[in-house]
Amino acid sequence: MAQKSDRLPIARSRQFIINKDSPFVITEAYKTARTNLIFSLAPCKSKISVVTSCSPTEGKSTNCLNLAITMAQMGASVLIIDADMRKPVLHSLIEVDNKAGLSTVLGGITDDIAQVIHQQVRPSLDVLTSGPIPPNPAELLSSKKMEQLLEIVGEHYDYVFIDAPPVLVVSDALLMNEYTAGMIFVIKENSTGHPAINEALERVKMTNGKILGFIRANCNSKGKHSYKTYKYKYQYQYKYEDKNKDTENNPFLNGENTQYPDAQGNDTTL
Ligand SMILES: Nc1ncnc2c1ncn2[C@@H]1O[C@H](COP(=O)(O)OP(=O)(O)OP(=O)(O)O)[C@@H](O)[C@H]1O
Ligand SMILES: [Mg+2]
Repeated sequence: MAQKSDRLPIARSRQFIINKDSPFVITEAYKTARTNLIFSLAPCKSKISVVTSCSPTEGKSTNCLNLAITMAQMGASVLIIDADMRKPVLHSLIEVDNKAGLSTVLGGITDDIAQVIHQQVRPSLDVLTSGPIPPNPAELLSSKKMEQLLEIVGEHYDYVFIDAPPVLVVSDALLMNEYTAGMIFVIKENSTGHPAINEALERVKMTNGKILGFIRANCNSKGKHSYKTYKYKYQYQYKYEDKNKDTENNPFLNGENTQYPDAQGNDTTL
């Protein structure tokens, strides 16, 4: 049975994406995060960062996009990749189409990466959307093709940000440890608990991952760096939304059902 989503409608979610009218404290907070990230990345050969969190809806996609925009504002060439091929939202946030993207490149449907990258969605910022939802995201992310793609974009762009699923639900983010500089963890204020953070960090350690830094998200408006508080129920669950089920235009489906693990690791037929 369908469950009530704890997400805001996408049009309202766009209010959290920084723009020229964003409050000074918000843009300054992201600039501070940018400076810290540049220091964290300084000793790293790779400039590719994976943005993740412990659990769903903690603000990964929003903060990944805002960090990428802030980095691009410096004039650096920046690419953001939507590697959440289970619940992609970047294309909706920036309002571009998602007919092709990471999944079609990794799945061998698109040969030319440059062709599917949306150029200059903001000054200096390009985006590779998720593409149609594939049946095997973890397999695709750990493939040789993913390694080659990251090598190519790593050479071409000054900075690359990867929006990834939460580490306590699926292994996708951890699979990219080998080919990236490290992870930026989004911690949602008054929501992400210490046991979850400890468990997530343990998993990063076990997979030889590196933590580049933490972002404290959804801070209370009385705090120094904050958006207004928005309360919603915390659910330890990774739910797939109906709107993602674009079965007609999904080259991966071929009329068959697609299997994904739910939060308990069971397969969920969409
Ligand atoms: N600063 C904020 N204050 C209040 N709500 C926010 C804030 N940032 C994001 N949100 C809302 O929280 C929800 C989750 O945000 P987002 O999609 O960035 O999280 P996520 O961790 O990527 O989620 P998922 O695990 O589904 O990929 C969205 O509805 C978004 O609009
Ligand atoms: Mg997300």
